[in-house]
Amino acid sequence: MSVQRGGFSTRIGFILAAAGSAVGLGNIWKFPFEVGEGGGAAFVVMYLAFCFILCFPVLVAEISIGRRTKRNAVGAFKVLGHKKWAFIGYLGLASGVLILSFYNVVAAWAFGYFIDILFGTFSVGGEAFGAFTKDWVKVGSYAIIFMVTTAFIVSRGIAGGIERAARILMPTLFIMIIGLIIYAMTLPNAFEGLKFYLVPDFGEITGSVVYSALGQAFFSLSLGMGALITYGSYLSKDSNIVKSAAQITLMDVGVAFLAGFMIFPFVFTQGLEPNGGPGLIFATLPGVFESLGYWAGNVIGAFFFLLLSFAAFTSTISLLEVPTAYMVDEHEIPRSKATWIVAAVIFVVGIPSLLSNGASEALGQFVSLAGAGTLDFMSFVGLIANDTFLPLGGFLIAVFVAYVWRKENFDKELAEGADDLKGSWLQSYVNFAVSYICPLLLGLIFVVTVLDNFFGVKLLTILLG
Ligand code: PHE
Repeated sequence: MSVQRGGFSTRIGFILAAAGSAVGLGNIWKFPFEVGEGGGAAFVVMYLAFCFILCFPVLVAEISIGRRTKRNAVGAFKVLGHKKWAFIGYLGLASGVLILSFYNVVAAWAFGYFIDILFGTFSVGGEAFGAFTKDWVKVGSYAIIFMVTTAFIVSRGIAGGIERAARILMPTLFIMIIGLIIYAMTLPNAFEGLKFYLVPDFGEITGSVVYSALGQAFFSLSLGMGALITYGSYLSKDSNIVKSAAQITLMDVGVAFLAGFMIFPFVFTQGLEPNGGPGLIFATLPGVFESLGYWAGNVIGAFFFLLLSFAAFTSTISLLEVPTAYMVDEHEIPRSKATWIVAAVIFVVGIPSLLSNGASEALGQFVSLAGAGTLDFMSFVGLIANDTFLPLGGFLIAVFVAYVWRKENFDKELAEGADDLKGSWLQSYVNFAVSYICPLLLGLIFVVTVLDNFFGVKLLTILLG
């Protein structure tokens, strides 16, 4: 391979970049409304459990594949297995392209809200949200800005681009969240919000709550599509993979958990319902900010949407890096050129998603599925990529590591940079999980999702009542 790959310059740089990939709209936008719909604290408890029991071992597996092969998501499977296993990588590539295509549009909403608040052209309420997403020229312009900025960072390479951005953005993000939480705690009824968030009512747990907690945990950690294989491929041999993975998981879970401490006091201070669905952040919260008064509302609102944009940004960077690394390694295209080509293609793929939230009637009611009902284009792509491809990818990755690459080789890779791992319970657990728990649960999610959404067969209800 003649093309220079580059790498992370420090271990903390890698951890921040990987945590940056994990921490995103999933933590701050999706997590709170899933908690709201899943009945509050009971969902939180399950989410935390799944992150550690199921996701952590897959995270370790992905990083190991990457570091062992020093290849992109497709090339890595060719090196460790055989050409025929490359399809797992291609599936990941497809997931990455599809996810970024609409994720960039949601990121553009967040960024657009920030700009509009800053320039005083912001209007609030559910209708305002609809009018905002319908204005495709405006959202499209923000989406272009977001994609171009993402591509700019990725084109600069690992140490000088991705790592550098993460080292600035991640600490900033953390400070912003803490600031917002402190403010949220001073609001009337903040305590009610915390109660909803933190006191579990296990009666609320149904099959579908378990299932969405599982899916959310997996998405939130950026697993199942090779993002962590790609980042792992830039990691040096002397880093401890298991320890790094634990730190990444903790940061991701930590930020999602903290996000609840700002969102729920905000929601309850207005006596609003926490189960507002995807509109919770974009339709409900602006009204809350407005009620805080002119100055406080604008400052807190702008701050909040800037935070959301930063969180999304470190994720779009990792999403773009997956196909870019593929082009660089497998087709020997120089990084800068590869980045701009891929970014342009993904932007175009995202245009129907951009138009499916009000601008186009046809795309707004794109398909009618037996179980999922009528979906707009963006939700349909989300269903395919997030809900169907990622668990399938995770299932295949776990099976690949345990039964094709094999346990002995996996263990050997984990031992590099981790002297005390050999023979520890942690090593036994990761092995056991990757061989049995992960394939079983991820395979099950995949089957349940397909049967439920596409065929209207409610397997969980049949099994669990
Ligand atoms: N984990 C990111 C989030 O929580 C989304 C993501 C998924 C990023 C897959 C990269 C790969 O928003």
